[in-house]
Amino acid sequence: MTDKIYDVPAEWAKRAFLDDRAYQAKYEASLRDPEAFWADEGKRIEWFEPYSVVKNTSFAPGNVSIKWFEDGVTNVAWNCIDRHLPTRADQVAIIWEGDDPSEQRHITYQELHDEVCRFANVLRNRNVEKGDRVTIYMPMIPEAAFAMLACARLGAVHSVVFGGFSPDSLASRISDCSSKVVITADEGLRGGRKVPLKANVDAAIAKLTDIEVDHVVVVRRTGGTVNMEPGRDVWYHEAAELVTRHCPAAHVNAEHPLFILYTSGSTGLPKGVLHTTGGYLVYAAMTHQYVFDYHEGDIYWCTADVGWVTGHSYIVYGPLANGATTLMFEGVPNYPTNSRFWEVIDKHKVNIFYTAPTAIRALMQGGDAPVKKTSRASLRLLGSVGEPINPEAWEWYHRVIGDERCPIVDTWWQTETGGILISPLPGATALKPGSATRPFFGIIPEVVDAEGKPLDGPAEGNLVIADSWPGQMRTVYGDHERFMQTYFSTYPGKYFTGDGCRRDADGYYWITGRVDDVINVSGHRMGTAEVESALVAHPKVSEAAVVGYPHTIKGQGIYAYVTLMSGIEPTEELRKELVIWVRQEIGPIASPDLLQFAPGLPKTRSGKIMRRILRKIAEDEFGNLGDTSTLADPAVVDDLISHRQNKK
Ligand code: WT7
Repeated sequence: MTDKIYDVPAEWAKRAFLDDRAYQAKYEASLRDPEAFWADEGKRIEWFEPYSVVKNTSFAPGNVSIKWFEDGVTNVAWNCIDRHLPTRADQVAIIWEGDDPSEQRHITYQELHDEVCRFANVLRNRNVEKGDRVTIYMPMIPEAAFAMLACARLGAVHSVVFGGFSPDSLASRISDCSSKVVITADEGLRGGRKVPLKANVDAAIAKLTDIEVDHVVVVRRTGGTVNMEPGRDVWYHEAAELVTRHCPAAHVNAEHPLFILYTSGSTGLPKGVLHTTGGYLVYAAMTHQYVFDYHEGDIYWCTADVGWVTGHSYIVYGPLANGATTLMFEGVPNYPTNSRFWEVIDKHKVNIFYTAPTAIRALMQGGDAPVKKTSRASLRLLGSVGEPINPEAWEWYHRVIGDERCPIVDTWWQTETGGILISPLPGATALKPGSATRPFFGIIPEVVDAEGKPLDGPAEGNLVIADSWPGQMRTVYGDHERFMQTYFSTYPGKYFTGDGCRRDADGYYWITGRVDDVINVSGHRMGTAEVESALVAHPKVSEAAVVGYPHTIKGQGIYAYVTLMSGIEPTEELRKELVIWVRQEIGPIASPDLLQFAPGLPKTRSGKIMRRILRKIAEDEFGNLGDTSTLADPAVVDDLISHRQNKK
């Protein structure tokens, strides 16, 4: 099979920072002498005190330790704001586009400075100090970015929790990092529908048993009525009136924690992925510059939510560190109509557009007409992130959205990696639809077999990264043992990504998806164990097993097999009730798409659930179940097959 190849357009080769030869040379330099390479790149941000040590990292079993620029002193908010003021005080930093097309805001770097300082002062007045954790549960409004940067300014550690998570999920995240302060809004607004954020915060706090939240700062967004707890809750706009627009940026060490972001794994509760200051910012800024070929004056739009790492690195920190204009969108792709993304691009003359395959596939279903009635003439580059992009969606994105003019950067990375690790560079890399192509500077990907042996040349196996890079997570908050266990024990001495991968004869990487019990639903990561424990928490459920299956829009859908307590009748009502239950326990992104009542689950004689078989049945591949000789009761499988749920 030959892959279709799209060469670098001539004008791109000319204008881009790097062409193919420059990429090759820089990549080789980054591996030949990482110390010298990163010593140089570290200078792309400003330091209050310079670093003398660049890289001090070890992936050694039982002794994983990752430090970059460790004796440098800096501040992320200073670098994203103050540093730019002499040259770009009046340049727009953030364009905000509201859920309703009539609403927008333009925030200059000077205004960003003033807003962030005010926000920081409001937090300071509530005793937020260097190192304190602050939970942010916000809609996509500029105040979400102000709050993040305000924390960074004080050296406080933010934990942004996606606004779609339930009160339960929020409570466990507040409690895990013991946040004494929560920042939220009255309500969010998405696709014309209100999201009761403050009410969810109240419900979450009511569930906390181990810690007390001292302050809830509430930003007014919709003006909807909310309960305000005297002594605990404060309106942001009232508190902000009492403070000045000046607040010194704390001097923090390069390895001072910047943020925690919770992400699902294959076992247990979500892990608090911890990122620190210096290396993270250098890496976010550098990847934003080269992968998106960001030039002065470009209007850049990433459609992610700030509740995910993509929003952290490529809406807020990377772009602002580069003095860019970054667009923040409150709404959804199909409100008021399917043309919304393209209308926003025309309205704000967006040059660089970064979104997720699931959004592309959903819009593709609406046909070309909603796209073709817009101009999109400002677009120069398209990006994709979150899951493998199927070649059909890639082609549509390229042909219909980009009018065959715009390269697509398919960027592979993870919450843990802090920034993009494998991606084309638009002026340097010939594209193959569906491939994330080649490694970024300093990244050493390896394809390994089940024993961990690195495979040469074209090969398929598991993806590991052989050495550290500055944007890498440093630990699981409060649990370094779990960090080492999760990422460095499968293939000792190497970072295990959890992804399967193929490398072709041109050295291009093709990510094939997760190889652990994590599923990727619409570009969002969901641990099957988490959905299972939500299901078994229901009084009528005795056992549950959850797997992924191919879903035309979401990439993967959630398929749940549920065994009921004896004597409980499996009814349609109960099926609906269980789906709603999971939504309430975790959040809408965890709702099972299909739920099958299973009188028994396929188990080995030692009682282990054979997920491989459940996956095959969910994928409709039951003609090919593989080895079933270890099944304790083969009849269980026939029952599951005959009652499998229909995919539309
Ligand atoms: C997992 C990480 C980091 C951005 C958002 C997701 C999958 C991500 C790609 C891509 C194929 C991709 C991987 C990865 N993934 N980008 N371009 N091609 N797969 O972050 O929630 O931490 O999930 O998303 O499976 O491990 P995340």
